[in-house]
Amino acid sequence: MDLDGYMRALPKAELHLHIEGTLEPELLFALAQRNGVRLRYPSVESLRKAYEFEDLQSFLDIYYEGAGVLRTERDFHDLARAYLQRAHADGVRHAEIFFDPQTHTSRSVPIEAVIEGLTTAFREAEKEWGLTTKLILCFLRHLSEEDALETFDRARPHLDHIAAVGLDSSEKGHPPVKFRRAFAKAKAEGLGAVAHAGEEGPAEYVWQALDELKVSRIDHGVRCAEDAALVERLKREKVPLTMCPLSNVKLRVFDSIEKHNLKSLLEAGLRVTVNSDDPAYFGGYVLDNFRAAQSALDLLPEDLAALARNSIEASFLPKAAKAALVAEIEALKP
Ligand code: ADE
Ligand code: ZN
Repeated sequence: MDLDGYMRALPKAELHLHIEGTLEPELLFALAQRNGVRLRYPSVESLRKAYEFEDLQSFLDIYYEGAGVLRTERDFHDLARAYLQRAHADGVRHAEIFFDPQTHTSRSVPIEAVIEGLTTAFREAEKEWGLTTKLILCFLRHLSEEDALETFDRARPHLDHIAAVGLDSSEKGHPPVKFRRAFAKAKAEGLGAVAHAGEEGPAEYVWQALDELKVSRIDHGVRCAEDAALVERLKREKVPLTMCPLSNVKLRVFDSIEKHNLKSLLEAGLRVTVNSDDPAYFGGYVLDNFRAAQSALDLLPEDLAALARNSIEASFLPKAAKAALVAEIEALKP
């Protein structure tokens, strides 16, 4: 098997994926037409051309605008189905998927339509492809904690569909501690917790996510490298980092993939994983991220197997399901 076939065949879990970030321009235009939404771009090509970002905020502005075409349960189903089909083709066996309810409820789209649409597609993917999923409800950190608490109350009747809460959107100036009560409430209901930290924000936000929000994974976390004591802690406590190399280059966290610290942190013994973040905007799905990291950082087959194993072990899957997938990884020869 060549290296590309090996990367595809490795059983992988995708743990950092915003479903709204999988909205490809073609589907965006089709949904705009279906829902009678006027767009300020004349064509798919002109929209794609606008995907040049200076930083996280310049991306988020266009990402929230794009999400405006998502109106009905069917739209959320079609969005999730398209992603899951693509993930299946990349050898993703399990996906833990973020959604941003506030982006939709603020436009009067009921949270029920969002959750029903997504979970219908999830059930189809499991039945047709054996691809399992979990749903993670993210709070938008640029909004208030009161808004997050209200959102959690709206989600309360649907908690059987939700595995964990997360924290995303504009990082700078919005420290994790702002959401301490919202995370405590979610944890009291038995949900897991993850948070974006150390993407654009400082290493201090990673400490806060661990200590104040009690998260079990850090999304991105690349800026941990600026704090040796933090790196030591992440290693000691085996805290997974859900890294997204193509995203980090598109949003100028690193100048190039060659400069990405994924390999050095993997070699330092951290539980690094590879993910796609917002693939429709950043130029690649999970296998594209593996390919880019492999060639730029000269990752060896054992590095690739470690990344895949880390993703399975860092997931919220039950022990037996993890063991079965890890055994498949061990048995796969490059
Ligand atoms: N929402 C979607 N993608 C994001 C990212 N990379 N960082 C923060 N919030 C996001
Ligand atoms: Zn993200």
